Amino acid sequence: MAPIYASKTKSPFTKSDNLLFDPALIPASIQESLPAGYVVRPLARSDNQVRSNSSFLKTLEVLTTVGTISDEAFQRRFQYLKEHSDQYYTIVIEDMNVPPTSAGSATSSSPSLVTPGRGKIVAAGTVLVERKFIHELGMVGHIEDIAVSADQQGKKLGLRIIETLKAIGQQVGCYKVILDCSEKNVPFYEKCGFERKGVEMGWYV
Ligand code: ACO
Repeated sequence: MAPIYASKTKSPFTKSDNLLFDPALIPASIQESLPAGYVVRPLARSDNQVRSNSSFLKTLEVLTTVGTISDEAFQRRFQYLKEHSDQYYTIVIEDMNVPPTSAGSATSSSPSLVTPGRGKIVAAGTVLVERKFIHELGMVGHIEDIAVSADQQGKKLGLRIIETLKAIGQQVGCYKVILDCSEKNVPFYEKCGFERKGVEMGWYV
């Protein structure tokens, strides 16, 4: 199937209230490196299970329990992130090579504009930007909740998610981007350009 949008030279999305942050922060080169018909974009207000064909929350289930989240609760959390959109950069990869459902939104007739939720979300990740006093009010990016749907793993989507989050962190001014992971994921993050630093510790309530 041909890609859903004609141009591969720029993001098929434009800044809108539906999107968590300005898609111009996502490098066009990463969009170009995705399989045909796949798009990378900010999380959208419409990316909840109830009202869309997308499956952001389902995608996160490869990580851990997500639980039952109502549409209203999703909207409240999205609104909080949106009001702090210089801190929370959550992205998704959407596979547009799926037939639209009645629950999904219609695709724009313009090749340069694709409606979020028309396809199926297959990968997600977040970079959370921390503002420090040290390093002259430096900023650190924390990569969190990287998830690729089980049937989509091994297609370099995880790599593209990490490349995107690193690029966003760099563009907004972070002097480093860090993450915690399990031992089994170390080889993946090494492939993404990370190296071992320090030790992760946790305290659970
Ligand atoms: N061990 C060794 N190498 C790996 C592994 C692994 N577990 N996973 C990926 N790689 C390699 C691939 O072979 C590939 O190497 P290549 O460039 O030489 O071909 C490279 O890493 C990139 O792999 P991708 O295809 O981009 O990986 P994928 O899309 O499958 O995503 C991920 C990897 C995110 C770990 C995925 O398997 C996943 O979602 N797992 C379940 C959830 C999870 O563990 N998430 C990470 C939690 S940690 C955090 O969120 C900070």
